[in-house]
Amino acid sequence: MTDTLIKNARLVNEDVIREVDVLIRNGRIERVDPEISAANAAVYDAKGNHLLPGLIDDQVHFREPGATHKGEIATESAAAIAGGITSFMEMPNVNPTTTTRTRLHEKYRLADRKSRANFAFYLGATNDNIDEIRALKAGEACGVKVFMGASTGNMLVDRPETLEKIFSSSPVPVVTHCEDTPTINANEQRFREKFGEDVPIELHPEIRSVEACYKSSSLAVELARRYGTRLHVLHLTTQRELALFEGKPLGQKQITAEACVHHLYFDDTHYAVKGGLIKCNPAIKSASDREALIRAVVDGLIDVVATDHAPHTWEEKQQTYFKMPSGLPLVQHALVSLLEHYHRGIFSLELIVRKSAHAPAEVFGVADRGFIREGYWADLVLVDLNRPFTVKRENVLYKCGWSPFDGETFHSSVMATWLNGVLAYNGHTVSDSVRGQRLQLDNYQAR
Ligand code: DOR
Repeated sequence: MTDTLIKNARLVNEDVIREVDVLIRNGRIERVDPEISAANAAVYDAKGNHLLPGLIDDQVHFREPGATHKGEIATESAAAIAGGITSFMEMPNVNPTTTTRTRLHEKYRLADRKSRANFAFYLGATNDNIDEIRALKAGEACGVKVFMGASTGNMLVDRPETLEKIFSSSPVPVVTHCEDTPTINANEQRFREKFGEDVPIELHPEIRSVEACYKSSSLAVELARRYGTRLHVLHLTTQRELALFEGKPLGQKQITAEACVHHLYFDDTHYAVKGGLIKCNPAIKSASDREALIRAVVDGLIDVVATDHAPHTWEEKQQTYFKMPSGLPLVQHALVSLLEHYHRGIFSLELIVRKSAHAPAEVFGVADRGFIREGYWADLVLVDLNRPFTVKRENVLYKCGWSPFDGETFHSSVMATWLNGVLAYNGHTVSDSVRGQRLQLDNYQAR
């Protein structure tokens, strides 16, 4: 493998921005210095653009096996690479569900062959697979996913004694989808009586309500405190839930929280324009909730920013309220959408890197990634902050062929992505031959 020398980059890493060259050798970062010369290296001129660690997305749904008409590991991971996401952690609500270690290993084998980005998988919890959870070996799963509220895929875990067993004995981090299903069911019933099947999409946040989120998140936090669980609460959507979390340094936290790019970007005023395309669980809520989430990312109540990339076909999304599935595809535009918050003067570049690369690496114990450090894998993304990019159907890479950002012009563009030292995206196309690696995880705790 020829060495690569990236010249004239503005490196954004570990809370500092500095002008450097980066030398890549055998897939890893060999040197980071203001001026490097390397006679035999292939030179890439970054032209003063910003070089970031590749993003680590701790929440995606790539639909394989079993729902490949919506997305595949190959297509969705390629879209991730074009968006600057070099590693992903994928969810178990596929078909069959990833709820045994055997199925987990089958998924790793699939990804070995197909994934264009680095990968890890969650084991899904059910009301009766505690033995599988307890049997997990070190490095086998990035976490155990608990749907404490029903969503796509029917994986609700709602028995109190099961939750207690999971929280008291999972050897890997517990990650939760928090929405209280009885509250949602009662709301659904109320609105069905009023509107029949065709409930207006604007009411989605009243059905999947603030109350439903709080009830479930507060239970998760309470269980984690009681049992000393390493808990990561996924996709917060409400101001009210933020009171459950602390703003102390990440390294001191037992309970961490995530927000997703669409909940930071859209609010309930967008239902009128985007309709069911932005229907997701938990629901996109009010503008004041969105502002509170943004502040919480800045203040450290929220540790990680991810996507919850969840593709469905265009046709599926055109149906009436109850039939239409929740979820939207996001990996290709997550970084450029976050950079809009930079352009609005709200997020610094260093903050974006911390929340979307450093923090997920720390939360899940990802080895040798998430930072630009000598000896680490060369997972890198180069962005031009001042090169506008318009999302159009023609440039969307998802298998489903649409994006909730269709027609939107972002100020920034992804110019290149390196995966394990290989130029995987050149600003135009994702290399067909590139393959990701399984993430090495130091997240196991015998209990
Ligand atoms: O909106 C969502 N879509 N939320 C989830 O929890 C699941 C996801 C999906 O898999 O479609």
